[in-house]
Amino acid sequence: MQFETMNGLKRTHMCGTLSKDNNGEEVVLCGWVARNRKLGGLDFVTLRDRSGIIQLSFNDETDSAVFEKATALKSEYVIAIRGTVALRTEKNINPDMKTGEIEVLVSELRVLNGSETPPFYIEENIDTNDALRLKYRYLDIRRPDMQRNLMLRHKIVKVARDYFDDNGFLEIETPILTKSTPEGARDYLVPSRVHPGKFYALPQSPQQYKQLLMLGGYDRYFQVARCFRDEDLRADRQPEFTQLDMELSFIDIDTIIEINEGFLKRVFKEVLNIDVKTPFVRLPYREAMERFGSDKPDTRFGMEFVNISDEVRGCGFKVFSDAVENGGSVRCIVAEGLGEKLTRKTLDSLTEYVKTYRAKGMAWIVVEDGKLRSQITKFLDEDTVSAILKKTGAKVGDGILIVADKDSVVYDALGNLRLEVARRFDLIDKNKFNFLWVTEFPLLEYSEEENRYVAMHHPFTHPFDEDIDKLETAPGEVRAKAYDIILNGSEIGGGSLRIFNSELQEKMFAALGFTHEEAWERFGYLMEAFKYGTPPHGGLAYGLDRLAMIMAGCDSIRDVIAFPKVQNASELMMHSPDVVDKQQLDDLSIAITRLEEE
Ligand code: AMO
Repeated sequence: MQFETMNGLKRTHMCGTLSKDNNGEEVVLCGWVARNRKLGGLDFVTLRDRSGIIQLSFNDETDSAVFEKATALKSEYVIAIRGTVALRTEKNINPDMKTGEIEVLVSELRVLNGSETPPFYIEENIDTNDALRLKYRYLDIRRPDMQRNLMLRHKIVKVARDYFDDNGFLEIETPILTKSTPEGARDYLVPSRVHPGKFYALPQSPQQYKQLLMLGGYDRYFQVARCFRDEDLRADRQPEFTQLDMELSFIDIDTIIEINEGFLKRVFKEVLNIDVKTPFVRLPYREAMERFGSDKPDTRFGMEFVNISDEVRGCGFKVFSDAVENGGSVRCIVAEGLGEKLTRKTLDSLTEYVKTYRAKGMAWIVVEDGKLRSQITKFLDEDTVSAILKKTGAKVGDGILIVADKDSVVYDALGNLRLEVARRFDLIDKNKFNFLWVTEFPLLEYSEEENRYVAMHHPFTHPFDEDIDKLETAPGEVRAKAYDIILNGSEIGGGSLRIFNSELQEKMFAALGFTHEEAWERFGYLMEAFKYGTPPHGGLAYGLDRLAMIMAGCDSIRDVIAFPKVQNASELMMHSPDVVDKQQLDDLSIAITRLEEE
């Protein structure tokens, strides 16, 4: 087929923007052929661009050469047309199509390019394996749902830029080739040619730079910042991801929270036309753990924890009494009205589920009419059983699911069980957007692996003033001026007020087990900087991908990233990472000692 050019044709409209208001207008449209249906002497071509689709109509009044060309069009051919918008007859109106009331009667058709048959349909909700989608990502992102997602992401960033600009923030870029940062993941390293044996690290976040910007006097900084972390991937984690990052001087937590609630309110209104109620609930970390077993609780459904440690203390059933005696706890959730669905098979599979979170098992009591169904009541006396029923408030038809262990295991296992029960029994209202702040995080957490305290956020987080004395005596009890913003059980952002005095920063490094020399070696430039008039400051960073994922109603951040990586951090279209020439390695003074087998 001979392909043509656009010469002399200028696009006037995007397909999806036309409506019956354009009736009678001459338009020039461009795009891809989504469908071509020949019906006797008629030919209907569905034309697609990123704004939507429209029907092109060819009939007995169409020039015969144009008609002939139209019938030869195949899926994904690239065309430009000139035509006139016309109303469809009543019986031909398609209510499922945004432009379903109109069609375009084509007078000129140019075939700009052809296309091989794509490996999958270019349409919404295709049932194709992810590897194929990612190998042909340019076709995958031509699908309308992916296009909507990427356009929605664009809008979020646009609103963010507008909002932060309106509120006095400056957008300033910080380096990508930098030095190792202490966000807690492994760094991606870039070898230096000029300095053999030395490496840049890609930033895990712009954390230190944004603090240094505060020192530089750029109060209220903002950046759409690419971050890199070499960590295990999950549905909500990518090795490179984007933060909406900000830092402010001369502020308190309330101001940061207020500004960010304002942002979320505006972005939901402008992007999704949803009114978000502010202020959001603020939940201290401890309370979040005790009620939901999680520092990112999903509050779209109930099933909050009930602590029955007091009720079972000293009871004859050792699994319970030992847990309490050893300083742990016995907690449960009540699956309201799910008793009948909690069959033995389901309970067994839920038990297996909690075991993946290190729980030794799961006890259960199902309250049936006039009796209890349970594997443990035979080990408990009547008073204990009725105390449990009273504390939980369980009624006929409810199931009580119990985990006994040390607190950290109970929180993790029961917290995940709560989510699993909600998912399995469809208890989550997908139309809800539940925001909350988790505050008062512990500053430090003990790492069994490293045998020392590590920073729960990062080492620049300011401790609660009244807890500073405990840095040396009881580091685990020190609370941080840190906050996470949670949406529907996902941590969409986090931040803190920062330490802005070098003495306190040194104390913090000491609590983290760094000697004075080690701390200076790694962060000397920052502590040096802190000596020169550091303003009190703090900030926050959103995971843009996560925010976009939830706003787009997707389950994976891959669906809001144009060219994402897969589980093993490789990229299936261009095939990165890849081997490089020997010459390139020599230039970098690098010798490969182990190569991945193909
Ligand atoms: P933090 O490490 O909590 O804080 O990161 C901020 C937010 O970034 C998102 N996020 C990720 N998204 C996708 N893939 C990843 N691998 C990934 N890792 C994190 C999360 C998270 O809430 N400098 C601090 C912020 C600050 O203190 O101001 C920081 O980076 O949504």
